[in-house]
Amino acid sequence: MTEPLIMSMSPRAGGNSDHAAALFARSLDQPPRPVFLRDHRMEPCTGCGFCSEDGLCRIGPDGAEELFSRLDHASGLVLTAPVYFYHLPSQAKAWIDRSQSRYMARQNGLRVPKAERRAYVVLVAGRTRGENLFTGIMPTLRYFLQIFDYRIEKTLFLRGLDGADDFSRDRAAEDAVRDLAGSSGW
Ligand SMILES: Cc1cc2nc3c(=O)[nH]c(=O)nc-3n(C[C@H](O)[C@H](O)[C@H](O)COP(=O)(O)O)c2cc1C
Repeated sequence: MTEPLIMSMSPRAGGNSDHAAALFARSLDQPPRPVFLRDHRMEPCTGCGFCSEDGLCRIGPDGAEELFSRLDHASGLVLTAPVYFYHLPSQAKAWIDRSQSRYMARQNGLRVPKAERRAYVVLVAGRTRGENLFTGIMPTLRYFLQIFDYRIEKTLFLRGLDGADDFSRDRAAEDAVRDLAGSSGW
């Protein structure tokens, strides 16, 4: 049986996104082991256009493809990430850009869509204020995840978490992640 994939996309090991991912996992009946984007080496998309014909990427196989395969096989998804300059960290964006080959495969009818699965997103930001702190990230994640047949079911936006241990010291933030995990029914 497949299990949900829980992934932290922070470049900082042991930070808030990692702690949120670990807590989400621990809150499930059968806790999956979280994975870390930073552990997977990958090159960024160069826009070479090679994938436009058959949906194959000239760069791979590498860490990007390995993680796409994990997305293919998971029963659901949890992504945690920090806000960097009002968007995702560059490592996460590099991974997302590499999905262009999957997008092209789908556009060209080379990949049959699967049944839609649910994704949960937890974003952490150092700032306590800022109306648009998370608004740049959401369309990127929505359209990226559509390629892999995921629909964003719920999001959690956590503000004022800057130091690596801030999440673990914030009872309300922890409760919110536990509630989110509980609502998944996983
Ligand atoms: C390069 C960089 C850019 C950042 N940009 C923002 C930002 O635009 N807005 C914000 O609220 N916090 C920003 N932060 C703070 C992080 O979002 C915050 O420290 C977060 O807790 C990091 O999450 P992590 O512990 O999971 O890595 C930035 C931090 C770094 C290192």
